[in-house]
Amino acid sequence: MIKYLVIGDPIGHSRSPGMQNAAFAACGMGTPYGAEKVTAEELPDFFDYARNNLRGVNITVPHKIRAAELADTLTERANECGSVNTLIISEGKILGDSTDGIGLEMALKYSFNTALDGKRILFCGAGGAARATAVHLAGCGVAEISFINRTIEKAKELADLCTGKNPHIVSEVISPADDTSGRAAVERADFLIQATSLGLKESDPMPLNCNWLEAGMKVKIFDTIYHPTKLQKFAERLSLPWANGKEMLIRQGAESFRMWTGIVPPQEIMRQGFDNGVVLS
Ligand code: ATR
Repeated sequence: MIKYLVIGDPIGHSRSPGMQNAAFAACGMGTPYGAEKVTAEELPDFFDYARNNLRGVNITVPHKIRAAELADTLTERANECGSVNTLIISEGKILGDSTDGIGLEMALKYSFNTALDGKRILFCGAGGAARATAVHLAGCGVAEISFINRTIEKAKELADLCTGKNPHIVSEVISPADDTSGRAAVERADFLIQATSLGLKESDPMPLNCNWLEAGMKVKIFDTIYHPTKLQKFAERLSLPWANGKEMLIRQGAESFRMWTGIVPPQEIMRQGFDNGVVLS
């Protein structure tokens, strides 16, 4: 019986059912996790349904911000970033949580085998995905979190959110048209986090000026998109270290699983579930 769901619009591509059911099955809990398309209009009704019928939900694009408003209470980390990707449901009450930030933190450490202390982080994007993760990274001992974004006001707002609780952090907001500042920011960055939606469609342009990237730079590129993109191919061509969003999806999912069950799930099994992409039955 389905007691857990991932919802979004669209949802057909989601790897979460394969990944989560692999973890549930490995823990002897069957395969209780499904996927359902829920539109923005349907979201309030879905919350009523979830309240009475489900134990847990993962929320994906485009509902993470609205979900933070609809939940009964929020964890501190969800409240800080104003985004919710996990609902924990108990006795008719819905607790909203955000596991994206810790998912990115763990994925960066795992993918590049490095700590984050004192590191310089450059985000490409300042939308929902950047918001859910940058605020968390700001609390990880980093020295800088800067943003390149088309809409400068959104980047400023997010930079203020990151530095508000961490005044020691340097944060610059850069227009994609500012060649001098963009190039300098990429040159000094330890990590470039691609958190725009550019790359989801094959016809999308590169999310930043590719002249700012050169072979031999120290920057490590993390693309939150988990299928191949132009940026990933470009990084490969330049022999720059890069990773796609697969490990982040696995890590945020593992943290959701822990919040629902109290069990730290076997991550290798979740990786296999991600790769197989099938819902076990
Ligand atoms: P998500 O929840 O996936 O992050 P979002 O909140 O709509 O979605 O944010 C999308 C991000 O991709 C934003 O940083 C957005 O830039 P703006 O803040 O200027 O809107 C960026 N983005 C999307 N389409 C873009 C485009 N064609 N050119 C440049 N940036 C784009």
